[in-house]
Amino acid sequence: MTQDLKEMADLVSLCKRRGFIFQSSEIYGGINACWDYGPLGIELKRNIKERWWRAMTDREDIEGLDAAILMHPKVWEASGHIAGFVDPLVDCKKCKERFRADKLEAEVLASKKCPKCGGELTEPRQFNLMFKTFMGPVEEDAAIVYLRPETAQGIYVNFLNVHQSTRQKIPFGIAQIGKAFRNEITPGNFIFRTREFEQMEMQFFVKPGSDMEWFEKWKEVRMKWHEDNGIRKNKLRFHEHGAGELAHYAKAAFDIEYEFPFGWQELEGIHNRTDFDLGRHQQFSGKKLEYFSEESKEHYLPYIVETSAGCDRSLLVTLVDAYRFDGERTWLAFHPSLAPYKVAVFPLMKKPELSEYTDKVYQSLKKRFRTTTDSTGSIGKRYRRQDEIGTPFGVTIDYDTLTNHTVTVRHRDSMAQERVPAENLDQYFQDKF
Ligand code: GAP
Repeated sequence: MTQDLKEMADLVSLCKRRGFIFQSSEIYGGINACWDYGPLGIELKRNIKERWWRAMTDREDIEGLDAAILMHPKVWEASGHIAGFVDPLVDCKKCKERFRADKLEAEVLASKKCPKCGGELTEPRQFNLMFKTFMGPVEEDAAIVYLRPETAQGIYVNFLNVHQSTRQKIPFGIAQIGKAFRNEITPGNFIFRTREFEQMEMQFFVKPGSDMEWFEKWKEVRMKWHEDNGIRKNKLRFHEHGAGELAHYAKAAFDIEYEFPFGWQELEGIHNRTDFDLGRHQQFSGKKLEYFSEESKEHYLPYIVETSAGCDRSLLVTLVDAYRFDGERTWLAFHPSLAPYKVAVFPLMKKPELSEYTDKVYQSLKKRFRTTTDSTGSIGKRYRRQDEIGTPFGVTIDYDTLTNHTVTVRHRDSMAQERVPAENLDQYFQDKF
């Protein structure tokens, strides 16, 4: 019987073994909550980003942007991050374990007893999640800059630049993919919560009053994007933020959640940020950020509907959701468009005449599809190796190929095999992708 991923450790081990994800600075013992993407991980990540980018910027009403990570420190005063981007932190005086006070049960917090060892907990103290650094050679308060904790602010401060340079009219959006940094108190679950990660954010500027309508539209569009990536529908759901959960900028917020082996958790946030951000930047910068509508001759501050997906988290969902084990075989049932390799070409045996034919097929297919080849070990082992990295198709060249010029195409998920003329392979795979 086919099973899903049960233990995250199995995925962590596969990712390391096959070159998807490595611990950062591993030879020095690693650094907590930072990860490196290996040869296959980076392909998967690029495919996810490309799909997101195309889904956003192929639309006529969305423009792209790539803003700097370091921004004027006033940005973070205006955005509310200096005052409000804090988590309450408690430490155990005995075992030194650190907890987010808002994630502890009320009784545990009231008892001041460590849930791990029973030791005494400190009073909660507010901890700002932004990383600080210094700009220029002098390490003084006036030189403090922050690593951005979200990419969104780079979009807000460029709202007028993009509007004026592209002549987009409201409603329109700005999309961006980039790194964000948070000094998380409790990172963990592999790449689920890390201190350095990538976001794929889109800010959609709308006329006040039409914001909830756009909010509903974007909720549906974003859920469909995850489904179109092949993520199983029964593993996805919406979670509405209650009053206590709403971020300081939000009027309404829904998370798209995924059911991980460690429970239902946020994958992406869709937020109605009202005119909070533009209003604050207008106030703190002294620059007018209003939009003028030619049609209605009105000046107004647009409302913003935000879609904010974690790239690394989407990648984790892609891996977790694709993981299959049937007691013997492990395979990653990736959507073909996300798979790092689309096709693997093998000679049935390591014989010069088969290898020569294999190389011809390989060279031809790799012009159009990301293709790999492998001639070591038994053919069964080679299929298994490709299954484990999620390659959807295998092509095997055998002795019949030399006479009738047909090859065996093997399907990753069903293991079904069919004979296809070698000269039709290009068209065959074009139809599949
Ligand atoms: N601009 C809005 C914003 O940043 P968020 O809910 O704090 O909203 C959005 O973050 C998404 O970014 C999350 O749904 C998640 O996918 C990703 N994300 C946030 N913190 C993360 C972390 N520490 N590690 C990995 N991904 C993270």
